[in-house]
Amino acid sequence: MVQIRKRFLALAAVTGMLMASSLFAADSNLPNLGSTTGGYSAQNALKRDAVCTRCHDESETAPVLTIYQTKHGVRGDSRTPTCQSCHGESEAHLKGNTSGKGRPAPDHVFKKGVYAASDDKDRAGQCMNCHKGTARANWDGGAHQNNQVACNDCHKVHAPADNVLAKKTQTQVCFTCHKEQRADSRKVSTHPIDAGKVVCSDCHNPHGSVGPNLLKKNTINETCFTCHADKRGPFLWEHQPVVDSCVNCHVPHGSNIAPLMKTRTPFLCQSCHDGSHASGTAAGRSVGGNQAGLIALPSANVVGRGCNNCHSQIHGSNSPNGGYFQR
Ligand code: HEC
Ligand code: HEC
Ligand code: HEC
Ligand code: HEC
Ligand code: HEC
Ligand code: HEC
Ligand code: HEC
Ligand code: HEC
Ligand code: HEC
Ligand code: HEC
Repeated sequence: MVQIRKRFLALAAVTGMLMASSLFAADSNLPNLGSTTGGYSAQNALKRDAVCTRCHDESETAPVLTIYQTKHGVRGDSRTPTCQSCHGESEAHLKGNTSGKGRPAPDHVFKKGVYAASDDKDRAGQCMNCHKGTARANWDGGAHQNNQVACNDCHKVHAPADNVLAKKTQTQVCFTCHKEQRADSRKVSTHPIDAGKVVCSDCHNPHGSVGPNLLKKNTINETCFTCHADKRGPFLWEHQPVVDSCVNCHVPHGSNIAPLMKTRTPFLCQSCHDGSHASGTAAGRSVGGNQAGLIALPSANVVGRGCNNCHSQIHGSNSPNGGYFQR
């Protein structure tokens, strides 16, 4: 064990120096433990961990020392937590079985239900002591915080690889709770989520946001425009529902109607356009008279054709010929 620790120490000193300079700005509120304890050194940090690691050496079922392989184990970095920055001083736990009731738990064990529901904040609170940076500015009141989902429901801090941080594995973590989105991701038309090219956190900030549905941007459209900039315009002829919200016609997570459509055309269009040309009921070529409805054939426009065969510039157009979204 000692050997392993030395190895991480050397590695850590190097990455630590790199991190301290380049990544410090990422979470500007990260406290510098060195400044509060005086005389920070990597050795001191490990010594402080030894309070715990003298017993928690290695366990096959729940290895804890793998934390030295993560950014929380970078001993050369004075912002790095010790065991006690997360688990608390835990005096009673350290004293051991003094009451005859077994060893009391440490101050913070991050288990749901161990604390009263109102204390679920506490599970995140330990982490927020260091991580209330910009990305988590809206944590309080967000859908996850509100529903007692805590940091470690997504993040595995002792594991060498935190699945939720890697694009390839992130969705697995989300899908453990969000079954509906998992089902959507297997439909005919989807964002390339399975391929790991688009992930949940491209559109959502799971830590909280000012936008609806934990979206990263303030509106749905702004979120879509981060990748589909061509749909932003400006267009000479705007289509009002597009300006209003992309989800008037699309669904984000998956649909059996390509491309990510809410409903099929012409029904989709007809849910808003019930004009004679669009409805196809009695507006076709009139035979034997020109009063609509007398003797009418179904409009050629709707028989076997999608509306967007002709109205192909459905997101908006710059055509000089008028606002019918054809060219
Ligand atoms: C004297 C040995 C000893 C020391 C020192 C010690 N622990 Fe423990 N710890 C144990 C034992 C034994 C258990 C298992 C208790 C049980 O299962 O009832 C345990 C359990 C735990 C658990 C799991 C609790 C749970 O409810 O699942 C955590 C977390 C923990 N210790 C953290 C720490 C931290 C942090 C420190 C340092 C502040 C520390 N321990 C110091 C012996 C120790
Ligand atoms: C960054 C915060 C953090 C630090 C630092 C940290 N832990 Fe933990 N620890 C946790 C969380 C969160 C859990 C709950 C398990 C989970 O969800 O990953 C946990 C779980 C544990 C457990 C219980 C394991 C189990 O699954 O039963 C033990 C024991 C433990 N930690 C000991 C330690 C020791 C010893 C250290 C110092 C080497 C330490 N922890 C450092 C956050 C931390
Ligand atoms: C004492 C301060 C401190 C505490 C407490 C703390 N962290 Fe950290 N955390 C850090 C530092 C320092 C980093 C490295 C930041 C960097 O690289 O800029 C970090 C990085 C992270 C990262 C990014 C890891 C990566 O690989 O990019 C995650 C995720 C994280 N912490 C989650 C947590 C969670 C969850 C908790 C509570 C269980 C917690 N932290 C508690 C200081 C802390
Ligand atoms: C619902 C799942 C989820 C919860 C809950 C969650 N996170 Fe995260 N976290 C993620 C995902 C996904 C990423 C990577 C995507 C990104 O960078 O936005 C991430 C990235 C991070 C990072 C590294 C990037 C950054 O923003 O600095 C830190 C640090 C972090 N989380 C800390 C926390 C803390 C602290 C909590 C609890 C207050 C928490 N997370 C709760 C999913 C979650
Ligand atoms: C392309 C952007 C995008 C991606 C990727 C994405 N979402 Fe969404 N998500 C949205 C939008 C937009 C809404 C709001 C939908 C609405 O208002 O109809 C939403 C809504 C939600 C909701 C609220 C319930 C609902 O369906 O309206 C949940 C939960 C959710 N997303 C989870 C996820 C998960 C989990 C993932 C990863 C598998 C994910 N999202 C990936 C854009 C996205
Ligand atoms: C431990 C379970 C759990 C995990 C893991 C989890 N969530 Fe959630 N999530 C919830 C709960 C509970 C809610 C609130 C109830 C709801 O809206 O479904 C929620 C709400 C949401 C919402 C907002 C829904 C709305 O209506 O506003 C989004 C978006 C979301 N989660 C995305 C994610 C993403 C992305 C991930 C993975 C990075 C993730 N969740 C991981 C449990 C979880
Ligand atoms: C992170 C980037 C990203 C964001 C944000 C994003 N998309 Fe996409 N979108 C993609 C990629 C990548 C594709 C696949 C393109 C391809 O296969 O050529 C795609 C494809 C699509 C398609 C066509 C699907 C198909 O079957 O051909 C639609 C429709 C779509 N996105 C709508 C949206 C909507 C609506 C939003 C906002 C809720 C959104 N996108 C947000 C990246 C993104
Ligand atoms: C009025 C309904 C409607 C609205 C609103 C709408 N779309 Fe579409 N979208 C369509 C239709 C219909 C198609 C299929 C076009 C085709 O197959 O020729 C489509 C296709 C797409 C495609 C794939 C083909 C392409 O043109 O790249 C993307 C990406 C897309 N839409 C993004 C968006 C975004 C982003 C928004 C919001 C700014 C949005 N859409 C709003 C109806 C709509
Ligand atoms: C959510 C409602 C909605 C949906 C769905 C919708 N539209 Fe529209 N559309 C509108 C509104 C509102 C206008 C603006 C009407 C106006 O200015 O009189 C408009 C305008 C138009 C115009 C220009 C009409 C004119 O007089 O300038 C055309 C063409 C059009 N839509 C075709 C379509 C097609 C094709 C579809 C299906 C792919 C569709 N729309 C889906 C609401 C919708
Ligand atoms: C064969 C090509 C074609 C098809 C298919 C077509 N349209 Fe049109 N549409 C046009 C043309 C051309 C115009 C321009 C006005 C005109 O000449 O009547 C137009 C005009 C419109 C207008 C504005 C004027 C009005 O009559 O309200 C709307 C709305 C519209 N179309 C909706 C639809 C919808 C919805 C569908 C599918 C049910 C559809 N169109 C199918 C060619 C087509």
